Parts: sequence; structure tokens; C-alpha cells
Amino acid sequence: MINRRFQRESQNPAARCWLLFLCALWTLEAPADESGWSLHGQNFSEQRLSPLTQINPQSLQDLGLAWFFDTGTRRGLEASPIVVDGVIYTTGSWSRVYALDGKSGALIWSFDPEVPREWGANACCDVVNRGVAVLGDQVFVGTIDGRLIALDRTQGDVRWSTLTIDPGKPYTITGAPRLVGDSVVIGNGGAEYGVRGYVSAYDAATGALKWRFYTVPGNPAQPQESAALERAVKTWTGDQFWRFGGGGTVWDSMAYDPDLDLLYIGVGNGSPWNRDIRSPEGGDNLYLSSIVALEGSTGEYRWHYQTTPADNWDYTATQHMILANLPIEGVSRKVIMQAPKNGFFYVLDRVTGALLSAEAYVPVNWASEVDPETGRPIETDVASYRDKDQLVRPAPFGAHNWQPMAWNPDSGLVYIPAMENFSLYSNPADYNHQDGPHWNTGQNDGAIQDNPLASIDPLYAAPLLKHLMRGQLIAWDPLKGRAAWRQSLPSMWNGGVLTTASGLVFQGQGSGELVAFEAQSGKKLWSTDAQSGIIAPPISYQIDGEQYLAVMAGWGGAIGLVLAQPSVKQGAPGRLLVYKIGGEATLPSEAPQGLFLDPPPDTASDFEIASGLALYNQHCMRCHGLGAVSQGLVPDLRAMSKTTHEIFDAIVLDGVLAPVGMIGFESVMTKQDSEHVRRYLIRAAHDQVALQEESSQWRGVRDWFFDQIGWLAAKVL
Ligand code: HEC
Repeated sequence: MINRRFQRESQNPAARCWLLFLCALWTLEAPADESGWSLHGQNFSEQRLSPLTQINPQSLQDLGLAWFFDTGTRRGLEASPIVVDGVIYTTGSWSRVYALDGKSGALIWSFDPEVPREWGANACCDVVNRGVAVLGDQVFVGTIDGRLIALDRTQGDVRWSTLTIDPGKPYTITGAPRLVGDSVVIGNGGAEYGVRGYVSAYDAATGALKWRFYTVPGNPAQPQESAALERAVKTWTGDQFWRFGGGGTVWDSMAYDPDLDLLYIGVGNGSPWNRDIRSPEGGDNLYLSSIVALEGSTGEYRWHYQTTPADNWDYTATQHMILANLPIEGVSRKVIMQAPKNGFFYVLDRVTGALLSAEAYVPVNWASEVDPETGRPIETDVASYRDKDQLVRPAPFGAHNWQPMAWNPDSGLVYIPAMENFSLYSNPADYNHQDGPHWNTGQNDGAIQDNPLASIDPLYAAPLLKHLMRGQLIAWDPLKGRAAWRQSLPSMWNGGVLTTASGLVFQGQGSGELVAFEAQSGKKLWSTDAQSGIIAPPISYQIDGEQYLAVMAGWGGAIGLVLAQPSVKQGAPGRLLVYKIGGEATLPSEAPQGLFLDPPPDTASDFEIASGLALYNQHCMRCHGLGAVSQGLVPDLRAMSKTTHEIFDAIVLDGVLAPVGMIGFESVMTKQDSEHVRRYLIRAAHDQVALQEESSQWRGVRDWFFDQIGWLAAKVL
């Protein structure tokens, strides 16, 4: 295996030249790497730094669209494409794979794993996929329904396919497979519904399982699968965890150091989120919310660092991890860096797992600091919501979600697609696990019912929310432990980041703009209208000496489904957009789709509305949106037709639309429940009609008022 890392010493020009020279040699020896983007994060260190310099601050003004490809869906696109031998391999929603000519955009082949659409209900956060891995003449993809598939690189035919999950459990795969030697490593998701997390390594040639590492223990009465789990099981109490899984899914980030043969995995949240239910007598609950280092060839545990002991808030450590060499106190240290959901930016020694620094990169209130001695966060009074409801920052969305960061050794900065947000957490009076694709967080159900924000159209409250739920691009200095610059973004949910050796930072935004910033200063240098909110990370590649910039543009993902924001651009079909210097292609213009509202009369009682709202928030909101406002990925239920109202029970209880992804809820809802939900939706539709008809003066006054409250709340929280 060729070492494709493109690492440079941050502040040592001599070492930089020498390593650049080595890189040039590697490039000569490795034709597969000529493209400049043959691995998920550009290199095994996942730095997302393009070594190409044709697109630079001077040439940027001539950057234009070279070609685009329509994926034909309107669900979220999160893939990071890969380019090998002039072919760009990427994925769309429902785990579809596309191979396109990197120069012309001509489709070479596509592959649809035909995921049963019902399985989409197991995906907490949209039917997304973050891309493929390419090794030799094979392309690997993980599917929403838990298969790992090897495809022939030239034809797209299936070479082998293996089921990586127990099909009786609500597991999903959205993450990109990673390569370790001749193995393909894949994790999974599902902690919101109650599963047990693990990663598996498969032989790339045959699909045979080589090793599997469980991240959380099984039944304490039985022997655990590894010594690491024998230690971990002592940090759990009660029986909820092993009966319903415990969580700890490895649903996205990994990084690999071939020299150390260490594979770093980012482990997810607890299941349920609420630690007082999950582990009633306390305990850290290893290895939840941890970075775990495994021996790449065997899957043996080497070390772990738990970013959030006893996770109580859905603070996953599945976020992007970057390997780099940093000069710390005069010594070059091999580090791993992560900005997990919990709001602290960590620099660890990646050989030993020792904490080097941890500083908050956005305002947080659940912990005051990370103790440098013990490496543990010091929880504040608001951290526990066992006895009292708490407003906690960050929210389960996280201060940073899956969207990849990027590391530029020239600027010495890590670019974080960050968020500021908060949520109300509360301990439910009683909690019963529900099997199947049913939200099991142990805080949310009660919290949302009582949360005044969860009953109103988020667009109505937008002036308030913009202070409390905001997006930022942060240029973080990992040596100083503080931001070098911050850019406020129009929406909270935005794209991943790319940086270049030519000193640029690219990011797609929720507003539909693709933007280039100067890496050092954060100055906005260029932007273009992508016609759709972007969440995926851009990549860059070259073919025949010409440099391209590519990004998947398709709104969606967790926040794309659930939280409408006025600044978000939606409506264009999901596309792959590819730019180059002098590109002159144009996107077809899209007419915005209006919402046609003609609800039946509103005859509901207050009780029916309250009951319908609570049921809606528990079962429907995650797909159909907060306040019943959809962002175009799934139908807006305020705009249901007369016929849909008539067959509502057949859809919602019996599941007649299951073959297109809308499962029936008969096992968790009665006929009366369904009617209450329908009546709540009718009320929401009437509220929306009233909103559209209200005078602009009144709206102006209300927006001003909300704006002031939001500003004040952001200061106080
Ligand atoms: C896992 C995601 C998901 C959840 C949860 C979900 N839905 Fe859906 N729903 C969908 C999808 C996807 C469709 C569109 C299917 C199609 O393509 O027609 C849909 C369609 C519908 C439709 C048809 C709308 C129309 O205008 O054609 C109704 C009614 C509906 N859902 C009601 C509900 C209710 C009520 C709940 C909660 C009890 C709920 N859904 C929960 C994904 C979901």
C-alpha cells in the first residue's frame, strides 16, 4: 500500500520542502493518486487539504461550472466523491453509486442497491450516504439497510455483498467505508432506536469478516468479546443498556495511521440519551462518546479517550478526526484533532491518547472546562436534568456534526463547520423502550411536548432562533486553542470544508452559496449560486493537468429534515456540481415551488391539539419537520389533499405508502391517536394560512420583538 499522506510540518520550511519533494516522488510512483483525491479525506490522515494549486486566489475569479449531474432525488446528499484514473465515484440518497467521467461528467455506470424503502424509517437523519472507497479494481459502498457491497470499478457489477448487521435490529449505514491495508472497514448507525455499536473489517477481495470491535459491552452475565469490553462493562449499571443495545455506533468518522497501524474510530452517543435511564446507578459508560484507537490489522484495542463521560445529551464523538504533526513546546507531536458535538476542540497525542489540549470552540454550558490533569470535563449545574428541566448548549445537533473539517498546515488552522444551538432536556416521568424505528432518546419525548418552541412554525420564530441556532465557519488555531477568525453563516446547517495548498477554504452553505475564503484571513473571495443548500464537503482533483472542484449539492440530513430555516435554499434536484477555471456551464433555472394550502375546517378541541402535537413530535417530526414545516424532502403535511385526508389512517396506521418510505405506525398508535395527529395538522395548516395573510406591519413588529428576545436569550444562556 502506498503512503498517500500529504503531511507537512506546520512551522518548519525545511521539513516542508523535503516532504513536498517526497510527495512529488510518491505521485510519480503512484499513478492512481494523480487525481489528488483517491481517499475519503484526501489522505489517510483525513486532512482534506488539496495539494493542487491551479485554483488559487488569483485564478479564482475565473472559476466557473464545468458540468453538473442530476441524481434525480430530492433527499440529502452528503457524499465526498473519490477520483481514480479520471473517473469520479460518488453516492446519492438511498446508497446509489455513480461513476462519471471526471472531465465531461458523462455517466459511465450507476448502481442502485435497491434498498427497501421501509428501511428508510430506521435512518434517524435522512437516507444519506457519505461516499465510497476505491481499492484496486473495486468500489465499496455501505447501504442504508446494512450491506457492504464491492462493485467492479469499470462496469459497476456486484463482486460481493455481505450483510454487516442483524436485520432484526434498526441498524443503518450512512458512513463511507475506510481502507486499512487490504481490508474495508465499516461501522453503522441506529443508536436513537436502540442498537449496540461496532465496527467490522472485511477482506477487500472476498468480503470475509476479518475482525469486529464492539464499542459497548453486552450482557454482563456473559463473557465479553474482548478484554477492552471486560473493562468497559464495569462502567455501566442496570440492565437497559444490554437489553436495548446501549448505543455507541460508529456511524461516520475514522482515520488511519499506517506507520503506527492505528485505526481511530469515533464512537457515538448512548442509547437512550438519558444516562439516568441508560445506566441508573451512574458510570462513565465506556466507550460511548470516545475516540478509540484500534490496531488496524487485528482490531485490538490500544487506547481510548472519552470526550463525554456518561453522555447525557447525544454528544457523539463520531465527528471528523484529523491526523497531523504539530510542534508543541518545540517538539513535533503526532496528534489527532476532533471537534465533537460537545463543543470542545481536542488535541490528543495519537500514539498514546494523552490529552494535549481541549478548549471550547463555541459557547457551551454543560461543562465549565476540561480538566487538563484528569482529561475529564467539569460538569456544571445545568448538566443533569434528572430533577429539573435544563436548557443545555449545545443541542443534540451538536456544536459540530458530521460535516468534515479541513486542516491547512500553511495557515496552521483547522476549519470547523460549526454551530451554536441549545435544547431543553427533561427526565420523563416514565420511560418504556419501543422496539423498531421509534425514537428512544429518553429525554426528547417529554421535553418536546413541554417545549413551547416545538409547537410553533420555526419560520414564525426565525428572528428569535437566528440568535440561538446559528452556523459559523471557524478557523481554529489548535496550538493557541482559540479561533483565528469566524464567519457567521446565514443558516445553522451547512456544508463540510475543503482547504487547498493555494491558501483557499471552500464551503457550501445552507443558503445555496458555494463560497471560497482566504485561508489565513477568512476574507470572502468568491461565491456562486449552487441553487440548493449544500451539506456535503467539496473535494478537488485534476485530470490532464486541469484542476476541478466538485461538490454534491442536495439539501437534507438531520437538520434538513427537521428544522426549517428561512435562509435555506431548497427545491433544486440533488446534483453533483463540478467547477474549473474558465468553466462556462450554467444550471437550469428552477421555479420555486409554492405551498398549496386548502385545509378542511378546524374543529379540534384544545385537548385533541395537545395530544396530536405530542404524538406528532414523538413519531412524525423527525421526517416531516418541526411545526409540521417540511423543507421539500418529504411531503409537507399541512398541504395534504382532500384524498390524503380521507385515506390518512390507511397511510399512517396501515402503512400503504411503506413501499415509498412512509411506514405504518399501527404498533405504536391507535385510530384515535391518528385522528388527533390529523387534527393537529389541520390546525397547523390554518395557522400557516393566517400567517400568509397577516399584514407586513404586524409581522415587522413581531419579528423585531422576537429578534430582541433572541438576542437577550443568547446573552443569558
Ligand atoms: C422515517 C421518515 C418518516 C416518518 C417518521 C414519518 N413519515 Fe410520513 N412520509 C415519509 C415519506 C418519505 C413520505 C412520502 C412517501 C412518498 O414518496 O409518497 C411520507 C408521506 C406521508 C403522508 C402522505 C402525504 C401526502 O401528501 O401524500 C402522510 C399523510 C404522512 N406521511 C403522515 C405521517 C405521519 C402522521 C407520521 C407520524 C405518525 C409520519 N408520516 C412519519 C416519511 C416519514
